[in-house]
Amino acid sequence: MPSPHYTDPRLVALYDTLNPAAADTAFYLALAASKSCVIDLGCGTGLLACELAAQGARVIGIDPARAMLQVARKRPHAAQVDWIEGDAGALALLPPADLVLMTGHVAQVFIDDSAFLATLKAARHALRTGGELAFESRNPAARAWGAWTPARSLRKIAVEGAGEVEVWLDNVSEHAHSVVRFSTHYRFSASGEELISQSELRFRSQDELAALLHEAGFGKLHWFGDWDEAAVSAQSRELIVIAR
Ligand SMILES: C[S@@+](CC[C@H](N)C(=O)[O-])C[C@H]1O[C@@H](n2cnc3c(N)ncnc32)[C@H](O)[C@@H]1O
Repeated sequence: MPSPHYTDPRLVALYDTLNPAAADTAFYLALAASKSCVIDLGCGTGLLACELAAQGARVIGIDPARAMLQVARKRPHAAQVDWIEGDAGALALLPPADLVLMTGHVAQVFIDDSAFLATLKAARHALRTGGELAFESRNPAARAWGAWTPARSLRKIAVEGAGEVEVWLDNVSEHAHSVVRFSTHYRFSASGEELISQSELRFRSQDELAALLHEAGFGKLHWFGDWDEAAVSAQSRELIVIAR
């Protein structure tokens, strides 16, 4: 079931304020700098896709959430991006790409290995010879969900049209296969209305990610543990991979 984060227009309207351009954006823009055709799979509200297009690449942004794409289509440079409402199934119809990206921890929305493997295989087939797939997944060893308590996660944001909104996480529970479930609360100050969105994410280890990437046909994997290109360690927050 798609998360209301990505389908409820009231929550989609908050996405860019909660997830502005940051070190991950700079990392992927640098990686794509010399690439002529880039596919952004799970492009969301299109921040990165539009920046890639502004940088001169031919960009295809794919996302199953119509409400996210509606925001994407209104951004500067959106007219230079080809937007597709869909998932990895759409990749078979596209010309060979130099780079496929899955950013914003999209990899973690795939709970089942079979669904993730099918996506990785589709990405592999979408690449030209020598092309690369890059994405990141939170390192389970860093246990990011330990900070997903109301006290530690509370943020107050102000969004045009929505006013002030308080956002916090709670009800975190750990399940088999490194699946973490949690709730995100959104309280709109003007109306007092509170929306709650349930999520589940899979935290795969580096070995698990590597096994799936190899099974999908990627022979060479290059890893970073953070956006500053540090090597992966037990303390790394991220598992960032460039696969070819
Ligand atoms: C956390 S957002 C990341 C969006 C964007 N890449 C970013 O960095 O801000 C996760 C996105 O994955 C999309 N998504 C969910 N299931 C997907 C699937 N099976 N294939 C591709 N994208 C998917 C959601 O619709 C959502 O836009």
